Amino acid sequence: MSVRVAPPRGGLAGTVSVPGDKSIAHRALLLGALAEGTTAITGVPDGADVAATLGALGLLGAGVARDGDVVRVTGAGAALGRAEPVAIDCGNSGTTMRLLAGLAAGGPGPVTLDGDASLRRRPMERVAVPLRRMGAEVETTDGHAPLRVRPGRPLRGVDVTLPVASAQVKSAVLLAGLRARGTTRVTEPLASRDHTERLLVHFGATLARDGTTVTLAGGQRLRGAAVSVPGDLSSAAFLIVAALLVPGSTLRIADVGINPTRTGALAILRRMGAPITIEAPREVAGEPRADLVVRAARLCGTTIPAAEVPAAIDELPVLAVAAALAEGTTTLVGAEELRVKESDRLAALAALAQLGARIEVRPDGFCIHGSAGRPLRGGRVAAHGDHRIAMAFAVAGLAAVDGVEIADPACVGVSFPGFFATLAAVGAPVAGDGWGG
Ligand code: S3P
Repeated sequence: MSVRVAPPRGGLAGTVSVPGDKSIAHRALLLGALAEGTTAITGVPDGADVAATLGALGLLGAGVARDGDVVRVTGAGAALGRAEPVAIDCGNSGTTMRLLAGLAAGGPGPVTLDGDASLRRRPMERVAVPLRRMGAEVETTDGHAPLRVRPGRPLRGVDVTLPVASAQVKSAVLLAGLRARGTTRVTEPLASRDHTERLLVHFGATLARDGTTVTLAGGQRLRGAAVSVPGDLSSAAFLIVAALLVPGSTLRIADVGINPTRTGALAILRRMGAPITIEAPREVAGEPRADLVVRAARLCGTTIPAAEVPAAIDELPVLAVAAALAEGTTTLVGAEELRVKESDRLAALAALAQLGARIEVRPDGFCIHGSAGRPLRGGRVAAHGDHRIAMAFAVAGLAAVDGVEIADPACVGVSFPGFFATLAAVGAPVAGDGWGG
């Protein structure tokens, strides 16, 4: 199966919505399961990653009922989990695996966490180390999944400094800390996304935040809450860059999360000259959201320093595509984390060269000499089973003379099952099988 995306004759136009924010949805589900009472979550995306977390809740003893994009969770409270062994398949989802490791550390019984071939390649010692310090027994398979977690008896609050900024590891420690004795304090080198902290407060917990340190007292009880999940800015980013690259485009992307720990890509693109406006900003369930309007523009290159990486981590592949068409050089440093995502995203991006881009991939980033708006050549590329690589290359196809053919594009279903249909609906020529069009 493959899909080919080619340059449209005119601009992309329309108002689109994107699936609900994956990061927020995972957390709302898990906190709902840990809470007392009912949690109603609207805007739950139907991608495979969130489905993995949904499946886990039932296995752990919470009640889950789904009706379209609304999920009702009947929480099990602080007793969440089972005394007998539970095995959970996390699929492709690193967030599911790492957050569940934290949850399992404070639960009543042993939990085994496994996933697909990609997830089995991702580093798990980073989450195992702090959980062991809290008193849980965590066995990895040479540092990877499958992961066996035996709860701490007792689980103790700790003061940990994480070597890399990771919202998944921070959240795992906080979820464990909630059921630990004493206080848990987590410090990161740079601020990662803070959805867990915001939702914990929304579910009635008290925590303190000071710079990149979060402090949480153990033994707090959560109350079920209503959560509305905004559109996922990480999915919107592909449409934003698509509109920027196709002359004459104007797209409105409705109701997207604009949490400042996630909007690094907007800041970077604006620095590159992108006209992106934020309309009707509002806050719901502790998370800011807005409509985004983006018009096509000539972009210029920029430098992306390490400090900007966490807030743009999932958008860096599509930013590379924007850089390939910009005028001047774009340099990314301090982004070695890209090597341990759903694929080695830096290695995967090297294929931009086959499409006619001038990219040099480095151990911790890239250097891209943009074409100053001259279309790429195009060609056929592999998605490496990575949803964000498939979508980034599809966007490149909009600015490639021969278009770009993506082999095995079904992986977009991990986060954005309707991606190709959405591109087609705003005027992009999308051809091939396996995308539902
Ligand atoms: C996520 C955090 C990020 C991000 C991932 C989702 C989350 O990973 O890349 O797609 O929901 O917490 P890290 O926490 O490993 O940086």
